[in-house]
Amino acid sequence: MSHIQLHQLCKSYDQNTFAVEDATVSIEKGEFFILVGPSGCGKSTILRMIAGLESISAGELYIDNQLANHLLPSQRNLSMVFQNYALYPHLTVEENILFGLKVKKVKKSVRKERCEEAAKLLGLTDYLKRKPRELSGGQRQRVALARAVVSDAPMCLMDEPLSNLDAKLRGHMRTEIRQLQRKLGITMIYVTHDQVEAMTMGDRIMVLKDGKVQQVGTPLEIYNKPKNLFVATFIGAPPMNISKATVDRMNNQLRLDNDLVIPISHEQGRQIKSDVVYIGIRPEQINRGNGGAKDVSFSVQLANVEVLGNETLLSFYIGEDIWKAKWLGQWPLDMNGQTEISFSIEEMFLFAGDTEETIISPAWNETLLKEVRSVESG
Ligand SMILES: Nc1ncnc2c1ncn2[C@@H]1O[C@H](COP(=O)(O)OP(=O)(O)OP(=O)(O)O)[C@@H](O)[C@H]1O
Ligand SMILES: [Mg+2]
Repeated sequence: MSHIQLHQLCKSYDQNTFAVEDATVSIEKGEFFILVGPSGCGKSTILRMIAGLESISAGELYIDNQLANHLLPSQRNLSMVFQNYALYPHLTVEENILFGLKVKKVKKSVRKERCEEAAKLLGLTDYLKRKPRELSGGQRQRVALARAVVSDAPMCLMDEPLSNLDAKLRGHMRTEIRQLQRKLGITMIYVTHDQVEAMTMGDRIMVLKDGKVQQVGTPLEIYNKPKNLFVATFIGAPPMNISKATVDRMNNQLRLDNDLVIPISHEQGRQIKSDVVYIGIRPEQINRGNGGAKDVSFSVQLANVEVLGNETLLSFYIGEDIWKAKWLGQWPLDMNGQTEISFSIEEMFLFAGDTEETIISPAWNETLLKEVRSVESG
């Protein structure tokens, strides 16, 4: 059953430009739904329209299949963790956490129980009597999270709730929030610009750019079958390597600006309609050495070598562009030297030079996706 539906939802603050344009999506009950995109793309605006804190310029919002455009925030039965979490400065941590429940006249014994549970979950037990000014930024953020946890609302909206936490706590909280959401069956709409959070927490992701929806899908669909160049480079770390190439149909090959040549299959050639394309290859698909018969290999000038312990990130020049390769293990190469790299043309993404839409995603991903689906559904 769909819990929240956006139908061509638009927001204009200045009657001139759209902060959000025609956002359409149906979010299921109990789904963990992620909004992701660069700063200013409209994530908070969408969340605030759902919460009723921002008016809707055009389109419809449905909650539980009822038109909700003009419902008061208090009638929407949701809890929210803001990007700039607002705590009451004159109340203690405990009073802040329980504020909503007190307003709703929840029994004192229930309030106490829920507060203790949430405080334990978020590591706030020792801070319950303090005032917000006596807390660090990360601790304040956790108080805001605790407030959402105790509210027991069937729908929760979170706007970058982990941005002020250190890496370790952040990893921990990611798992906690995900488990809590599953356990309580909450419908979650979660804003982040951290693509690791998007990939690991969400059932589905919506990728936004300049107020426009680019793609909605499961994390693997987005990673394996990005709709366009923007999505392809936004999801994945380090990002997909991209270079512009001209199509040489006579010789069935792509030419990069430094005269590097990549052969393409007859099938790839048939699908390319434009004269210029972007080629894309993920850093994890670039191998050491000159590879097998189906691979292209280049000797490249290194730009940087980062040995990270369990893996090595290499930066190297492909014409004017700097590409990255991710190799397992420790490869402390001379960063002024050359090295041999290779990749399979079957791992290559191709994007149209004009529209930047995806022309070809690597075929093996299709099989992988089917396998994953059958494991998930079986
Ligand atoms: N109250 C407002 N008045 C006018 N313009 C606004 C207002 N709030 C947001 N905007 C504009 O709307 C666009 C979308 O803003 P929004 O806050 O939704 O972005 P965001 O994706 O949440 O970004 P961030 O990741 O930086 O939080 C931006 O261009 C922003 O400047
Ligand atoms: Mg925001």
